[in-house]
Amino acid sequence: MTQKDRPIGFFDSGVGGISVLKQALKVLDGENYIYLGDNLHVPYGNKTEDEIRRLSMQCGDFLYQKGVKAIVVACNTATSIAVQTMREKYCIPVVSIEPAVKPAIEADRCGKILVMATPATISQRRYNALLDRVGHKERVINLPCEGLAQDIEQYALDGPEITDYLEEKFAPFAKMTVAGIVLGCTHYSFIEKTIRRVAGRILPSEFEIYDGRYGTVRQLKRVLAERGLLREKRESSVEFYATGDQQEIETFQKFLLLEE
Ligand code: DGL
Repeated sequence: MTQKDRPIGFFDSGVGGISVLKQALKVLDGENYIYLGDNLHVPYGNKTEDEIRRLSMQCGDFLYQKGVKAIVVACNTATSIAVQTMREKYCIPVVSIEPAVKPAIEADRCGKILVMATPATISQRRYNALLDRVGHKERVINLPCEGLAQDIEQYALDGPEITDYLEEKFAPFAKMTVAGIVLGCTHYSFIEKTIRRVAGRILPSEFEIYDGRYGTVRQLKRVLAERGLLREKRESSVEFYATGDQQEIETFQKFLLLEE
């Protein structure tokens, strides 16, 4: 197999990274993909830094051993803790996702930016360094969403668990001008419509939603092109792997087919 024909490896703690994979399938539709969901250890967002690093490296090693030509860290939490170590360890490109704070701040809108992410991502040095780099930190309000990724894993995308949860999260901003909401966890892309609806009912102003997956896939394309690794065939394939219960692979397939 030539370098170009090798698959691209994606991983996340569970279903979240499938939202990034879906975007990759649109933009890079001639590639083969391997997706690993670490369902044995989901969620990552409330684990310790050491645990998240160890689990992320296990996922990276699995994909590397499968002979992928690039790894996509399709998990903001894993990026914030392990991407540096991965880049040092593997001699292939490692592309990652991080909360899309930059486009949110740079958009021509006034108001606060709410960043929804896991508690682990928000507490990390890497995320705080991103805020320092982007500037206008006073406009950013962090919303650690403990437990939300688990509800999404249960496929409860607009059920009462999720709508009640979101109502509680957005209630304190009912009188505040909010310009944007950043989906800083790949799981949340699957409830974008629900977030838009619930926040739209509560927030007094118009707001945009920012999702890092678009930038990540653009970066993946750029990196592959620079290295002459784009496959550009007409057909693509996706192979799913799960670290825990293998039944979960059916759920992965269901998420891949979800309409956006
Ligand atoms: N999807 C992940 C992220 O982007 C992590 C969710 C979790 O496992 O807590 O942060």
